[in-house]
Amino acid sequence: MEEPSVKQCCATFYGSDFARILLGESFHPGGTQLTERLGSLLNLGPASHVLDVAAGRGTSAFCLAEKFGCKVTGIDLSEENVRLANQQAEQRALSRSVSFQYADAEMLPFADSTFDAVICECAFCTFPNKPRAAQQFLRILTPGGQLGLSDLTRSEKTIPELEGLLSWIACIGDALPVEQYASILQQVGFEIETVEDQSGCLLEMVQQVRGKLLGAEIAVGLKKLELPGIDFSTAKQFAQVALRATREGKLGYVVISAQKPGSIQ
Ligand SMILES: C[S@@+](CC[C@H](N)C(=O)[O-])C[C@H]1O[C@@H](n2cnc3c(N)ncnc32)[C@H](O)[C@@H]1O
Repeated sequence: MEEPSVKQCCATFYGSDFARILLGESFHPGGTQLTERLGSLLNLGPASHVLDVAAGRGTSAFCLAEKFGCKVTGIDLSEENVRLANQQAEQRALSRSVSFQYADAEMLPFADSTFDAVICECAFCTFPNKPRAAQQFLRILTPGGQLGLSDLTRSEKTIPELEGLLSWIACIGDALPVEQYASILQQVGFEIETVEDQSGCLLEMVQQVRGKLLGAEIAVGLKKLELPGIDFSTAKQFAQVALRATREGKLGYVVISAQKPGSIQ
């Protein structure tokens, strides 16, 4: 499959109502609590300008702006997510400190050394060219700037039942062992600072998604909800396999913080 269609398919899924029904507003394990943890690890404050890469509908960006007083720019490859996130920023009267634009993580439209911090939650694993995205993160950070990554990990290269397009969409398809994420970041020039296992958050999320799938299927059956084209039987089977893989430690979730070498201005 060509890279753009994989990326676009992921963006279309996460821009859909189905994603919001299954995941709520925060599209990553641990929700805003884990986002706050990331913000603390990066020592964010009112002087920070943060780039949220693959910001979804902006939940993390609003959380960071409200909790740490920082300025946040979000980018996402789903035009629908960008539209909804900017709408939210206006409704929350946060447009001056939080804004969103359409962009690809592998081709960031910002000048070198623009941001004090970059966060990327539950999205790096979906990028077909991870070193290129990591290089972009490094380039747009100021010297001494920090990266906070939270992402899915997998202990084995192949989990046959989870292969295919559905696993790409669910961010599992190209998830890597934690050492490989660290190695990609180091190879482009980052210094790793913290690595935290947060697999408990993933287990909780997969359990919740299974429950919500059942609820959505019943609501569709009762004609209280319209979700055309959703194959519930495959989705439920997939959630079951993901739950087992998480319990067995084959899938996990990690938070990594890293620094761009140089002194903070
Ligand atoms: C699992 S969601 C995570 C969203 C958000 N970070 C959060 O945690 O709520 C993945 C997001 O990555 C976006 N995405 C996928 N590939 C992308 C790319 N190459 N560049 C920018 N965004 C991308 C999708 O549109 C989607 O909103």
